[in-house]
Amino acid sequence: MTSAVNPSRIFETGFGFWESKVLLTAVELELFTKLGDQFMTGETLGKILELHPRGIWDFFDTLVALGFLNRDGDGPTALYSNTEETGLFLDKSKPSYIGGILEMANDRLYRFWNDLGPALKTGKPQNEIKHSQKPMFEVLYEDLPRLEQFMGAMRGISVGNFQAFAQKFDFSKHKSLCDVGGATGLLSSIVAGQHAHMQCTTFDLPVVETIVRRWIAKAGLSDRINVVSGDFLKDALPKADIITMGNILHDWNLEKKKHLIRLAYEALPENGVFVVIENIIDDARRTNAFGLMMSLHMLIEFGDAFDFTGADFWEWCQEAGFKRYEVMHLVGPCSAAIAYK
Ligand SMILES: C[S@@+](CC[C@H](N)C(=O)[O-])C[C@H]1O[C@@H](n2cnc3c(N)ncnc32)[C@H](O)[C@@H]1O
Repeated sequence: MTSAVNPSRIFETGFGFWESKVLLTAVELELFTKLGDQFMTGETLGKILELHPRGIWDFFDTLVALGFLNRDGDGPTALYSNTEETGLFLDKSKPSYIGGILEMANDRLYRFWNDLGPALKTGKPQNEIKHSQKPMFEVLYEDLPRLEQFMGAMRGISVGNFQAFAQKFDFSKHKSLCDVGGATGLLSSIVAGQHAHMQCTTFDLPVVETIVRRWIAKAGLSDRINVVSGDFLKDALPKADIITMGNILHDWNLEKKKHLIRLAYEALPENGVFVVIENIIDDARRTNAFGLMMSLHMLIEFGDAFDFTGADFWEWCQEAGFKRYEVMHLVGPCSAAIAYK
């Protein structure tokens, strides 16, 4: 018999929000952090998390079935523990924690995605700025805990990609790098940490300065990284051999994207390199589902902002005067689109 057409994929995706909410709630409750390197019965873990007994077995065993917890044994005496991945990436006490992005997904993005339909009908944002005319970053950053949450989220989503870029890209021909929209200075910290000859500058809005200085001091790199505050919609960029932008271009409409590309071109020397690290969509727009959904997410957050393909990027870069380009795959859906002056 030929393999029958079946609806499993439809159900799996249609109920994807169940899986998502189980994982996001476990992060919200700091389950993986409180479990740490220990083995615990469900009863103990439930008490530590202050959960009602009704849900604990269903919740913990769902996490086992989804592959986010291990369980030795069956029944009430069984012992739950973190898997290799959750122990490494979702235990907040470890520097490898990436849960910041999931904290923000749970707290903000989950409810905004409920309004994907209105976003598609109107082309308008569905987040905190839905009922105001203010720019997204102004509103997002009005509230300090929300600014800190956003900064933590960016670290979580970007760390693996920045590490891959720092390893794959050949820095030997260059001396300086400026990371534009550098948030907590993560890319500069990783590059400075791995390439002793590189002078790194991280550039972001003034409101971010105290936060970036704190993160850089924590990494012990205060004497290696320049912190420059400014507004890339108004100011020129600091000059450097390499200009990087991680998840910046997708935050803006076409006109502002082109403005940022021009700014990068102006800040680079001859043979300078412009690197954009994002969920670059495949040119045929068929396979990078995460990149395509990130673009829908930009609709929800900003309205007219959007993600793009390597071919789109190259078209805009040629207009600015760049000579050649390549796409370097990093991790999962993320790549570096690289243009050479
Ligand atoms: C989506 S985050 C990306 C952070 C980081 N590059 C990463 O990939 O993890 C966008 C960054 O751009 C910064 N930003 C937004 N508007 C800006 C402006 N007008 N001038 C300078 N930085 C800006 C934000 O503060 C934020 O850190």
